[in-house]
Amino acid sequence: MAIERTFSIIKPDAVAKNVIGEIYSRFEKNGLQIIAAKMLHMTREQAEGFYAVHKERPFFKDLVDFMITGPVMMQVLEGEDAIAKNRDLMGATNPKEAAPGTIRADFADSIDANAVHGSDATETAQQEIAFFFTENELCPRTR
Ligand code: TYD
Repeated sequence: MAIERTFSIIKPDAVAKNVIGEIYSRFEKNGLQIIAAKMLHMTREQAEGFYAVHKERPFFKDLVDFMITGPVMMQVLEGEDAIAKNRDLMGATNPKEAAPGTIRADFADSIDANAVHGSDATETAQQEIAFFFTENELCPRTR
């Protein structure tokens, strides 16, 4: 399996619940290293730009409104099979459908306030990392 990088956001609901550390602990216990991190209260323009792929979806405005309700914690995770591993740790988009023990099952309240974001593919991971981080903000230990 290849060493990959993925982009992760701890969303405003989970930041407000004070579970950043618990979520970081899950990443680290499962072989994902945090190689960059930044706390940010996004502007509407940043949230709209980040979620531009969803701009025609009916939930777009509510999603953007939610993402700017408070600060988020964003990080780049590196490790073997990082993209799929992070998605496994997150659980299904709808916390009602998320497997027990996943981040969303444990910390998310609803499909719109669902605690975390994680890239879903190699290309989106690269785009999302570049949207918020410059190359010299990444601190990998694997090379
Ligand atoms: P999506 O990329 O489908 O899910 P995931 O975050 O698991 O990759 O959707 C992006 C976000 O949009 C999702 O985390 C929460 C929000 N969303 C809704 O509010 N309602 C919905 O019906 C869907 C599908 C997503």
